[in-house]
Amino acid sequence: MLHTFEKDEAVVLIDNLRASSTIVTALSAGVEEIIPVSDDEKAYRFKKKGVVIAGESGCVKLQGYDIGNSPVELLKTFKKTPFEKLVLKTTNLVPLLLSVPHALICSSLNLSSIAKYINKKKACIMPAGGERGVSEDLGVAFALAACLSEVSFDKNMLNFFTRESPAAGHLCETGYREDVDFISRTDIFDVIPFYDGKSIKNAGKLNG
Ligand code: MLT
Repeated sequence: MLHTFEKDEAVVLIDNLRASSTIVTALSAGVEEIIPVSDDEKAYRFKKKGVVIAGESGCVKLQGYDIGNSPVELLKTFKKTPFEKLVLKTTNLVPLLLSVPHALICSSLNLSSIAKYINKKKACIMPAGGERGVSEDLGVAFALAACLSEVSFDKNMLNFFTRESPAAGHLCETGYREDVDFISRTDIFDVIPFYDGKSIKNAGKLNG
């Protein structure tokens, strides 16, 4: 880990397409807790106990998992049968998450909520990126930095960054256009996903 985290520093992880957006959407829908895992065996143990497991590799749903890393698929599943706990395994965000002591998770969908929550605190903004570059995550990072310094930015521009990114192109080709449309929006949910070193919960809810 290159960065030494300072005490009281907010660590903000961004993986707009799609892990951050899946997490934001899940907590907004009513999921209480999300457990990031890096290995299948751990995920399967949770599945045996009845926990819904979501997993992705190369954008595609992992075999044996209930759903992929997809906010749209998650919402459809949740609407049919609501659930409290979710296990999540992804290529880029989860390993990054498991390497930091704590983190806030930001996507374009909850941008202003995260900015308000950080307020005047010190923040380390970490765009995750992936095999197809980092442009959509940098777009969110730039917008968050703008919000924190009271510089204005154009929401349409941010949505454009996401929609036109190479990662979005790949998701559309793989059959996930609905996710790209769903995520290419700004400030849809008021939720503060906070990872405490074990799992992710909505800090907005915890703080009343
Ligand atoms: C990840 O965390 O690796 C990404 O969100 C991949 C994906 O789009 O499913």
